[in-house]
Amino acid sequence: MTDAEQVRDPAVAVRGLSISFPGPDGQRTAVGGVDLCVGSGRFVSIVGPSGCGKSTVLRALAGLQVPDAGSVAVQGADVAGRPGSTAWLPQRDALLPWRRVLGNAVLGAELHGVPVREAEDQARGLLARFGLAGTEDQWPSELSGGMRQRVAVLRTFLTPAPVLLLDEPFGALDALTRRQMQGWLQEVLAVEAPGERRTVVLVTHDVEEALLLSDRVVVMSPAPGRIVAEVEVGFDRPRAATLVADPAFVAQRLELLAGLGA
Ligand SMILES: Nc1ncnc2c1ncn2[C@@H]1O[C@H](COP(=O)(O)OP(=O)(O)O)[C@@H](O)[C@H]1O
Ligand SMILES: [Mg+2]
Repeated sequence: MTDAEQVRDPAVAVRGLSISFPGPDGQRTAVGGVDLCVGSGRFVSIVGPSGCGKSTVLRALAGLQVPDAGSVAVQGADVAGRPGSTAWLPQRDALLPWRRVLGNAVLGAELHGVPVREAEDQARGLLARFGLAGTEDQWPSELSGGMRQRVAVLRTFLTPAPVLLLDEPFGALDALTRRQMQGWLQEVLAVEAPGERRTVVLVTHDVEEALLLSDRVVVMSPAPGRIVAEVEVGFDRPRAATLVADPAFVAQRLELLAGLGA
Protein backbone atom coordinates (compact mmCIF):
# COMPACT_ATOMS: atom_id res chain seq x y z
CA MET A 1 0.00 0.00 0.00
CA THR A 2 1.34 3.42 -0.88
CA ASP A 3 0.71 6.72 0.86
CA ALA A 4 -1.71 7.73 -1.84
CA GLU A 5 -3.81 4.64 -1.27
CA GLN A 6 -4.10 5.46 2.40
CA VAL A 7 -5.58 8.94 1.95
CA ARG A 8 -8.81 9.19 3.81
CA ASP A 9 -10.94 11.10 1.30
CA PRO A 10 -9.52 10.28 -2.12
CA ALA A 11 -10.60 12.45 -5.04
CA VAL A 12 -10.62 9.31 -7.18
CA ALA A 13 -11.27 5.79 -5.91
CA VAL A 14 -11.29 2.84 -8.28
CA ARG A 15 -11.83 -0.50 -6.58
CA GLY A 16 -11.80 -3.93 -8.17
CA LEU A 17 -12.74 -2.44 -11.53
CA SER A 18 -13.40 -5.05 -14.20
CA ILE A 19 -14.76 -4.41 -17.66
CA SER A 20 -15.22 -6.80 -20.55
CA PHE A 21 -16.32 -6.39 -24.14
CA PRO A 22 -17.89 -8.81 -26.59
CA GLY A 23 -15.20 -10.41 -28.75
CA PRO A 24 -15.18 -13.03 -31.53
CA ASP A 25 -15.03 -15.84 -28.92
CA GLY A 26 -17.39 -14.38 -26.33
CA GLN A 27 -16.70 -11.80 -23.66
CA ARG A 28 -13.11 -10.58 -23.44
CA THR A 29 -11.84 -8.99 -20.24
CA ALA A 30 -10.24 -5.63 -21.02
CA VAL A 31 -9.78 -4.41 -17.44
CA GLY A 32 -9.24 -7.16 -14.91
CA GLY A 33 -9.43 -5.80 -11.38
CA VAL A 34 -7.92 -2.32 -11.15
CA ASP A 35 -7.50 -0.58 -7.79
CA LEU A 36 -6.42 3.04 -7.80
CA CYS A 37 -6.86 5.83 -5.28
CA VAL A 38 -5.74 9.37 -5.93
CA GLY A 39 -5.59 12.01 -3.23
CA SER A 40 -7.06 15.45 -3.84
CA GLY A 41 -4.77 17.72 -5.86
CA ARG A 42 -2.44 14.90 -6.83
CA PHE A 43 -1.23 14.09 -10.33
CA VAL A 44 -1.17 10.38 -11.15
CA SER A 45 -0.25 8.83 -14.48
CA ILE A 46 -1.23 5.46 -15.86
CA VAL A 47 1.24 3.88 -18.28
CA GLY A 48 0.85 0.57 -20.05
CA PRO A 49 1.04 -1.12 -23.41
CA SER A 50 -1.45 -0.33 -26.14
CA GLY A 51 -4.74 -2.14 -25.61
CA CYS A 52 -4.22 -2.80 -21.88
CA GLY A 53 -7.34 -0.89 -20.90
CA LYS A 54 -6.05 2.58 -19.96
CA SER A 55 -8.69 4.47 -21.93
CA THR A 56 -11.36 2.12 -20.63
CA VAL A 57 -10.40 2.95 -17.04
CA LEU A 58 -10.63 6.68 -17.82
CA ARG A 59 -13.98 6.26 -19.54
CA ALA A 60 -15.26 4.41 -16.48
CA LEU A 61 -14.10 7.32 -14.30
CA ALA A 62 -15.78 9.73 -16.71
CA GLY A 63 -19.01 7.79 -16.09
CA LEU A 64 -19.19 6.68 -19.72
CA GLN A 65 -18.37 3.02 -19.26
CA VAL A 66 -20.36 0.99 -16.75
CA PRO A 67 -18.18 -1.50 -14.81
CA ASP A 68 -18.97 -5.21 -14.87
CA ALA A 69 -17.57 -5.44 -11.36
CA GLY A 70 -16.05 -3.07 -8.85
CA SER A 71 -16.67 0.61 -8.32
CA VAL A 72 -15.56 4.03 -9.51
CA ALA A 73 -16.01 7.03 -7.25
CA VAL A 74 -15.12 10.70 -7.51
CA GLN A 75 -14.98 12.63 -4.25
CA GLY A 76 -16.83 9.85 -2.51
CA ALA A 77 -19.73 9.66 -4.98
CA ASP A 78 -20.34 6.65 -7.19
CA VAL A 79 -19.93 7.75 -10.83
CA ALA A 80 -20.61 4.43 -12.58
CA GLY A 81 -22.69 5.32 -15.64
CA ARG A 82 -23.06 8.92 -14.44
CA PRO A 83 -21.04 11.38 -16.49
CA GLY A 84 -20.51 14.92 -15.25
CA SER A 85 -18.24 14.66 -12.21
CA THR A 86 -14.99 14.92 -14.12
CA ALA A 87 -13.46 16.86 -17.00
CA TRP A 88 -12.46 14.27 -19.59
CA LEU A 89 -10.13 14.81 -22.50
CA PRO A 90 -10.72 11.87 -24.85
CA GLN A 91 -7.87 10.22 -26.71
CA ARG A 92 -9.22 11.11 -30.15
CA ASP A 93 -11.28 13.71 -31.94
CA ALA A 94 -11.01 16.15 -29.10
CA LEU A 95 -12.12 19.26 -31.05
CA LEU A 96 -15.32 19.84 -32.97
CA PRO A 97 -14.32 21.01 -36.47
CA TRP A 98 -17.44 23.15 -36.81
CA ARG A 99 -16.70 25.25 -33.75
CA ARG A 100 -14.04 27.95 -33.63
CA VAL A 101 -11.33 27.94 -30.95
CA LEU A 102 -13.44 29.86 -28.44
CA GLY A 103 -16.49 27.66 -29.08
CA ASN A 104 -14.43 24.55 -28.55
CA ALA A 105 -12.77 25.94 -25.44
CA VAL A 106 -16.11 26.59 -23.69
CA LEU A 107 -17.81 23.33 -24.68
CA GLY A 108 -17.13 21.45 -21.44
CA ALA A 109 -18.17 24.42 -19.32
CA GLU A 110 -21.36 24.81 -21.40
CA LEU A 111 -22.24 21.15 -20.88
CA HIS A 112 -21.80 21.69 -17.15
CA GLY A 113 -24.31 24.55 -17.18
CA VAL A 114 -21.94 27.50 -17.09
CA PRO A 115 -23.55 30.44 -18.96
CA VAL A 116 -21.87 30.79 -22.37
CA ARG A 117 -20.89 34.45 -21.83
CA GLU A 118 -19.24 33.64 -18.53
CA ALA A 119 -17.38 30.67 -20.00
CA GLU A 120 -16.24 32.76 -22.97
CA ASP A 121 -14.93 35.48 -20.67
CA GLN A 122 -13.01 32.89 -18.68
CA ALA A 123 -11.63 31.36 -21.87
CA ARG A 124 -10.53 34.75 -23.23
CA GLY A 125 -8.76 35.41 -19.93
CA LEU A 126 -6.77 32.20 -20.27
CA LEU A 127 -5.98 32.19 -24.01
CA ALA A 128 -2.63 33.94 -23.60
CA ARG A 129 -1.54 31.68 -20.77
CA PHE A 130 -2.42 28.68 -22.90
CA GLY A 131 -0.33 30.00 -25.79
CA LEU A 132 -3.44 30.71 -27.86
CA ALA A 133 -3.58 34.52 -27.89
CA GLY A 134 -5.38 35.83 -30.97
CA THR A 135 -6.72 32.44 -32.06
CA GLU A 136 -10.25 32.68 -30.64
CA ASP A 137 -11.93 33.01 -34.04
CA GLN A 138 -9.83 30.42 -35.84
CA TRP A 139 -11.07 27.00 -36.89
CA PRO A 140 -9.35 23.89 -35.52
CA SER A 141 -8.15 23.08 -39.05
CA GLU A 142 -6.17 26.34 -39.08
CA LEU A 143 -4.11 25.37 -36.02
CA SER A 144 -1.00 23.24 -35.59
CA GLY A 145 -1.33 19.91 -33.78
CA GLY A 146 0.24 21.40 -30.64
CA MET A 147 -2.21 24.30 -30.64
CA ARG A 148 -5.20 22.02 -31.16
CA GLN A 149 -4.14 20.05 -28.10
CA ARG A 150 -3.77 23.28 -26.12
CA VAL A 151 -7.38 24.12 -27.00
CA ALA A 152 -8.44 20.62 -25.91
CA VAL A 153 -6.60 21.01 -22.59
CA LEU A 154 -8.06 24.52 -22.14
CA ARG A 155 -11.55 23.10 -22.66
CA THR A 156 -10.86 20.41 -20.04
CA PHE A 157 -9.40 23.01 -17.70
CA LEU A 158 -12.44 25.29 -18.07
CA THR A 159 -14.82 22.47 -17.23
CA PRO A 160 -15.84 23.09 -13.62
CA ALA A 161 -14.92 19.69 -12.22
CA PRO A 162 -12.42 18.78 -9.51
CA VAL A 163 -10.85 15.91 -11.46
CA LEU A 164 -9.19 16.14 -14.88
CA LEU A 165 -8.89 12.95 -16.93
CA LEU A 166 -6.35 13.37 -19.74
CA ASP A 167 -6.09 10.50 -22.23
CA GLU A 168 -2.77 10.72 -24.09
CA PRO A 169 -3.14 14.47 -24.66
CA PHE A 170 0.24 14.79 -26.38
CA GLY A 171 0.45 11.33 -27.92
CA ALA A 172 0.11 12.48 -31.51
CA LEU A 173 2.71 15.27 -31.30
CA ASP A 174 6.35 15.19 -32.36
CA ALA A 175 8.93 14.74 -29.60
CA LEU A 176 10.01 18.39 -29.38
CA THR A 177 6.47 19.78 -29.30
CA ARG A 178 5.58 17.15 -26.70
CA ARG A 179 8.41 18.31 -24.42
CA GLN A 180 7.25 21.91 -24.75
CA MET A 181 3.69 20.90 -23.94
CA GLN A 182 4.83 18.97 -20.86
CA GLY A 183 6.57 22.08 -19.51
CA TRP A 184 3.54 24.13 -20.36
CA LEU A 185 1.07 21.76 -18.69
CA GLN A 186 3.04 22.01 -15.45
CA GLU A 187 2.81 25.80 -15.67
CA VAL A 188 -0.92 25.98 -16.26
CA LEU A 189 -1.68 23.53 -13.46
CA ALA A 190 0.55 25.46 -11.07
CA VAL A 191 -1.61 28.55 -11.63
CA GLU A 192 -4.19 27.22 -9.20
CA ALA A 193 -3.55 27.82 -5.51
CA PRO A 194 -2.17 24.67 -3.81
CA GLY A 195 -5.37 24.06 -1.82
CA GLU A 196 -7.51 24.39 -4.96
CA ARG A 197 -5.32 22.42 -7.29
CA ARG A 198 -7.21 19.92 -9.35
CA THR A 199 -6.64 16.21 -9.29
CA VAL A 200 -5.26 14.85 -12.54
CA VAL A 201 -5.27 11.32 -13.92
CA LEU A 202 -3.15 11.20 -17.08
CA VAL A 203 -2.88 8.26 -19.45
CA THR A 204 0.28 8.07 -21.50
CA HIS A 205 2.48 5.47 -23.15
CA ASP A 206 5.52 7.71 -22.55
CA VAL A 207 7.29 6.79 -19.30
CA GLU A 208 9.40 9.97 -19.32
CA GLU A 209 6.29 12.11 -19.71
CA ALA A 210 4.67 10.30 -16.79
CA LEU A 211 7.72 10.86 -14.56
CA LEU A 212 8.12 14.50 -15.54
CA LEU A 213 4.51 15.36 -14.74
CA SER A 214 3.36 13.07 -11.95
CA ASP A 215 3.39 12.62 -8.21
CA ARG A 216 2.88 8.91 -8.77
CA VAL A 217 3.01 6.62 -11.80
CA VAL A 218 1.19 3.30 -12.02
CA VAL A 219 1.89 0.60 -14.59
CA MET A 220 -0.83 -1.55 -16.12
CA SER A 221 -0.19 -5.06 -17.42
CA PRO A 222 -1.17 -6.18 -20.92
CA ALA A 223 -4.85 -7.17 -21.23
CA PRO A 224 -6.60 -7.96 -19.03
CA GLY A 225 -5.20 -4.77 -17.55
CA ARG A 226 -4.47 -4.45 -13.89
CA ILE A 227 -1.91 -2.46 -11.94
CA VAL A 228 1.36 -4.33 -11.62
CA ALA A 229 3.84 -1.67 -10.48
CA GLU A 230 3.95 1.87 -9.23
CA VAL A 231 6.45 4.52 -8.22
CA GLU A 232 6.13 7.66 -6.10
CA VAL A 233 7.86 10.54 -7.89
CA GLY A 234 9.37 13.05 -5.50
CA PHE A 235 11.27 15.51 -7.70
CA ASP A 236 10.88 19.22 -6.90
CA ARG A 237 8.59 21.28 -9.10
CA PRO A 238 8.69 22.85 -11.59
CA ARG A 239 10.59 20.09 -13.32
CA ALA A 240 12.85 21.01 -16.21
CA ALA A 241 13.15 18.82 -19.29
CA THR A 242 16.81 18.25 -18.33
CA LEU A 243 15.62 16.23 -15.33
CA VAL A 244 15.47 13.21 -17.66
CA ALA A 245 19.29 12.97 -17.38
CA ASP A 246 19.30 12.97 -13.56
CA PRO A 247 20.47 9.57 -12.23
CA ALA A 248 17.50 9.35 -9.85
CA PHE A 249 15.14 9.99 -12.78
CA VAL A 250 16.91 7.39 -14.90
CA ALA A 251 16.61 4.87 -12.06
CA GLN A 252 12.85 5.43 -11.80
CA ARG A 253 12.48 5.22 -15.56
CA LEU A 254 14.23 1.85 -15.54
CA GLU A 255 12.03 0.68 -12.69
CA LEU A 256 8.91 1.58 -14.66
CA LEU A 257 10.23 0.04 -17.86
CA ALA A 258 10.93 -3.16 -15.93
CA GLY A 259 7.34 -3.05 -14.68
CA LEU A 260 6.24 -2.76 -18.31
CA GLY A 261 8.34 -5.79 -19.15
CA ALA A 262 10.45 -3.67 -21.51
N1 LIG B 1 -16.26 -0.18 -27.03
C1 LIG B 1 -15.48 -1.27 -27.14
N2 LIG B 1 -15.94 -2.40 -27.73
C2 LIG B 1 -15.18 -3.51 -27.83
N3 LIG B 1 -13.91 -3.58 -27.39
C3 LIG B 1 -13.38 -2.48 -26.83
C4 LIG B 1 -14.14 -1.27 -26.67
N4 LIG B 1 -13.34 -0.34 -26.05
C5 LIG B 1 -12.16 -0.95 -25.84
N5 LIG B 1 -12.18 -2.22 -26.29
C6 LIG B 1 -11.09 -3.19 -26.20
O1 LIG B 1 -10.61 -3.20 -24.87
C7 LIG B 1 -9.20 -3.27 -24.85
C8 LIG B 1 -8.63 -2.07 -24.09
O2 LIG B 1 -8.86 -0.90 -24.87
P1 LIG B 1 -8.36 0.54 -24.40
O3 LIG B 1 -8.91 0.84 -23.06
O4 LIG B 1 -8.69 1.48 -25.50
O5 LIG B 1 -6.77 0.32 -24.29
P2 LIG B 1 -5.59 1.40 -24.19
O6 LIG B 1 -6.19 2.74 -23.99
O7 LIG B 1 -4.74 0.94 -23.05
O8 LIG B 1 -4.84 1.31 -25.49
C9 LIG B 1 -8.73 -3.36 -26.28
O9 LIG B 1 -8.57 -4.71 -26.60
C10 LIG B 1 -9.90 -2.78 -27.04
O10 LIG B 1 -9.97 -3.33 -28.33
MG1 LIG C 1 -6.11 4.44 -25.08
